[in-house]
Amino acid sequence: MAPPQHRRIIVAPSLLAADFARLGEAAREVEAAGADWLHLDVMDGHFVPNISFGPPVVRAMRAACGLPLDVHLMIAPADPYLSAFAEAGAAHITLHPEAGPDLHRSLRAIRALGCKAGVAINPATSPEVAAYVLDLADIVLVMTVNPGFGGQRFLDSQLPKIAALRRMIDASGRAITLGVDGGVDGATAPAALAAGADMVVAGTAVFGAADQAGAIAALRAGS
Ligand code: DX5
Ligand code: ZN
Repeated sequence: MAPPQHRRIIVAPSLLAADFARLGEAAREVEAAGADWLHLDVMDGHFVPNISFGPPVVRAMRAACGLPLDVHLMIAPADPYLSAFAEAGAAHITLHPEAGPDLHRSLRAIRALGCKAGVAINPATSPEVAAYVLDLADIVLVMTVNPGFGGQRFLDSQLPKIAALRRMIDASGRAITLGVDGGVDGATAPAALAAGADMVVAGTAVFGAADQAGAIAALRAGS
């Protein structure tokens, strides 16, 4: 792997922080501002204490912009809905190990649907949960807040976990993206990138910025 300063950082703005009355325009704006992926937070009011949106919004975003749709499922169970999200246009589907009885089976199902598969790791969850499914994972997403809401404070306690997963991924020799999600902004991104993340999800820091291109460039630069 390239040393940290030469890695290209993927920036995935989270639509959760956009104006829901104009989601299509919001997606096109971040695309024009240099976003790499569009992160779509799906919440069911059961796995997390908030409800957001489902496959129809994913489908609408597929039509609205050209960005790869990075779908983050915070729903349980997730397995019965994987095909609906794939058909709606998800390029990546990331889920939590706590969402079902068999993470290995879920990841395989995502790949069989033609999507990249991701594992999201909650603050209290051990990185070891990913250790024996790395052959089925394209993305590992470290949650730096408890999932459910945007605008929360970045949990520094998760930095050693990012570093541990970076070591684990490098040792595997696999091309797995290591993302960080929650409370990421210009102040917190540098530590996450230094710990080994190569993808950042940011809602408030991008959609709340007057200069979205500047905010995205700052996240990518880790400054
Ligand atoms: C939290 C979501 C995040 C959230 C990030 O449950 O998974 O993607 O939208 O929002 P910010 O960047 O505002 O913390
Ligand atoms: Zn998310």
